[in-house]
Amino acid sequence: MFTSTLPRQNGSQVTDLPEDLFAAIQSLKQELNAVILAHYYQDPDIQDIADYIGDSLGLSRQASQTNADVIVFAGVHFMAETAKILNPDKLVLLPDLNAGCSLAESCPPDAFAQFKAEHQDHLVVSYINCTAEIKAMSDIICTSSNAVDIVRQIPEDQPIIFAPDRNLGRYVMAETGRDLLLWQGACLVHENFSEKKLVQLKIEHPEAEIIAHPECEPAVLRHADYIGSTTALLRYAKNSPKSSFIVATEPGIIHQMEKETQGKSFIPAPPMSSCACNECPHMRLNTLEKLYLSMKNRTPEITISEEVRIAALRPIQRMLEMSK
Ligand code: 13P
Ligand code: SF4
Repeated sequence: MFTSTLPRQNGSQVTDLPEDLFAAIQSLKQELNAVILAHYYQDPDIQDIADYIGDSLGLSRQASQTNADVIVFAGVHFMAETAKILNPDKLVLLPDLNAGCSLAESCPPDAFAQFKAEHQDHLVVSYINCTAEIKAMSDIICTSSNAVDIVRQIPEDQPIIFAPDRNLGRYVMAETGRDLLLWQGACLVHENFSEKKLVQLKIEHPEAEIIAHPECEPAVLRHADYIGSTTALLRYAKNSPKSSFIVATEPGIIHQMEKETQGKSFIPAPPMSSCACNECPHMRLNTLEKLYLSMKNRTPEITISEEVRIAALRPIQRMLEMSK
């Protein structure tokens, strides 16, 4: 239950926007003692106003350590939910409550409970991109930056269910040599990259390195010079002696890549559709305007039943302990 004593906006909601959104958000940040956490897939202007930008692991760590009273989560629902699981007494705001995730949706709790019941000797390792209900049924949570390391820490003779992303699961299997029982979920953004167009792009830019997120399909990953989480891709681009990269993940990350490297160039990997890039339709539901309004109106707020929260907290804490 939310127990903050912060004054709440009652009655009608503010819909007017101030002329200077950046200044208004900064002043609301002081007023609410709020922290703005943003994923790399957010619009550039949201990234620019955030107190912390990161991948799912970095954002979870920040959420577990913050002293703020209010967490404004510029990301998708499962991320804000994770922040709420870690901070039951804080107000956690998500600028657009419809910002879901195709991967989380690809693992419905009832079907997963049945799957788990059929494999009772298995330990359940779930990718953080899942609902609180799935987390509550899991033994350990992982993210794309620690999945390989976490699976390596589990005794070799222990059978493992890996959910919900089959592509990250296949990548972990290849890296660890372990046989994982995979839930067949996937991300609509990362499964939409075209291998054919990627190969064509590489022919046009032979000097460019291909860097890819492990949520991509094996057909794309096999062309990658480097595979990693969004933070790992950013670090790689900064440290690589190469100056041009084809980026096979959501193109929001390119904003930070351009900011943190000097004169390097980044080309979004092409999707199968006729669009030029592959933006996540869920992540991009958040806008700077909605972020301001969520702070002003103190809604939409993430809520979660205490029973599910406590059950979901345990595997998240286990992940944080195993990835120190
Ligand atoms: P990371 O934040 O772990 O890189 O994962 C990317 C993603 O798809 C988040 O939705
Ligand atoms: Fe979900 Fe994929 Fe969007 Fe990440 S990029 S939030 S996994 S749909």
